[in-house]
Amino acid sequence: MKKIAFTLLLLSATACVPAQNLLVLNADLGHDTISRNIYGHFAEHLGRCIYGGFYVGENNTKIPNRAGVRTDIIEALRKLKVANLRWPGGCFADTYHWKDGIGPKDKRPSMKNVWWGGVTEDNSFGTHDFLNMCEAIGAEPYLAGNVGSGTVQELIDWVNYTNQESGNPMADLRKTNGRDKPWRVRMWGVGNEVWGCGGNMRPEYYANIYRQYATFMTNWGNTNKIFRVASGANGDDYNWTEVLLRDIPHQMIEGVAVHHYSVIDWSKKGPATNFSEEQYFKTMQSALRMEEIVTRHATVMDKYDPAKKIAMVVDEWGGWYDVEPGTNPAFLFQQNTMRDAMIAGATLNTFHNHCDRVRVANIAQCVNVLQSVVLTEGEKMILTPTYHVMEMYNVHQDALMLPVNLKTGDYTFGAQKLPAISASASRDKTGKVHISLVNIDPNHPQEVAISLRGLTAKTAKGRILTSEKVQDYNAFDQPEKIKPLDFKGFTFSGDTLKVTLPPVSVVVLEL
Ligand code: AHR
Repeated sequence: MKKIAFTLLLLSATACVPAQNLLVLNADLGHDTISRNIYGHFAEHLGRCIYGGFYVGENNTKIPNRAGVRTDIIEALRKLKVANLRWPGGCFADTYHWKDGIGPKDKRPSMKNVWWGGVTEDNSFGTHDFLNMCEAIGAEPYLAGNVGSGTVQELIDWVNYTNQESGNPMADLRKTNGRDKPWRVRMWGVGNEVWGCGGNMRPEYYANIYRQYATFMTNWGNTNKIFRVASGANGDDYNWTEVLLRDIPHQMIEGVAVHHYSVIDWSKKGPATNFSEEQYFKTMQSALRMEEIVTRHATVMDKYDPAKKIAMVVDEWGGWYDVEPGTNPAFLFQQNTMRDAMIAGATLNTFHNHCDRVRVANIAQCVNVLQSVVLTEGEKMILTPTYHVMEMYNVHQDALMLPVNLKTGDYTFGAQKLPAISASASRDKTGKVHISLVNIDPNHPQEVAISLRGLTAKTAKGRILTSEKVQDYNAFDQPEKIKPLDFKGFTFSGDTLKVTLPPVSVVVLEL
């Protein structure tokens, strides 16, 4: 009965709800493109992300695989249109020595994964495995270099190994290892979180180190231009960005990173599924801070780089909760609910609306860790609500961002409030306009009156992701509880489109 009532709510525009939210879509004011690279993901040697996640081994006869990588994951990520994939960390990156992960697998040395549980890393998944996997997925690779415990030579060798055609000892070594043509890796991180696990550096010190590394990380006359990303700020550390932009010559930096996770409290993160409304509210409060963080880092960048040549690269973001009960605390394995769908929808809207500066982003991590899009258990694989949001939203990739003005009502919890609605819009290359709307309010539907400026539209179609409760998730025994459905909760009235968003819902409209 409950289910029927819920379905009816989805299918009908609830006429009795007042239009608390007004959105002006400026279809004639598009200027900047939403880079597909905002839809990047992150594969770290952490818990069951690589081993027991992406990679199940070439000799696995139970789980279909291509060179050891699960074919069901490859197919799911191809459909998702994963734009780029960052690897091998995270904190792991600054302990990783890439030469341990090439050549015959039985000859590769093992190491201890010191950041993530002290487990043995046997290096069976290395550079060839990762770059060939990216080719299979259709994602651009983004390699995070080891600055914390590596050397300049080690990183130059990696650049040459992956990028030089010939005439270089590293190109020769690659050929010996069975890959004739270089992969031509464009995106390179120069360390990760060097303010913390990447070396505990001060920004002034790192700016000098960065200059040294970046000097030698060049294309050396090859056709592919390298895109170097400086290890960036921890959340709201605006001084970090200021020092890097001030002290690094701009011809040697293409991107500067920022990391921000949606966390209630680092010492009391709360459960991933059975959370209270208070915990939900606080998570969304942290998630919506991305707007301020991006805006203020952009302001600093504008001061030094008004032409916006340097990209902001939010190469770690997402919800972070307690691990699932009974799982290894160092593996950071968490389920993924409609709360994560809210984080994904609202954060991607922020990135779209700041696409003049935010040109790369990577949600952490792709498989079996934090805000993952795919979870696996033995032979089973499920798609999370976050997967579905990113799939619904991929229509915005490489589309012209259309600015929106939003006057939103509130989601109130006790005496506190948050904006209930988040929105963004774009026009793709075929002329279709897409509007993404999120209603984070778990208790009330929200009506949005969209004024279509500079656009004549009489028909639309839509997709929705929602569920009865914000705590709902896809489980291995109920993998399709949450999935996108057709959405018809809108009506046209002259130049205004009236949309009714059910509680906790993500909607993408196509005009
Ligand atoms: O995503 C988990 C960890 O969070 C990453 O390894 C690190 O970069 C960040 O602190």
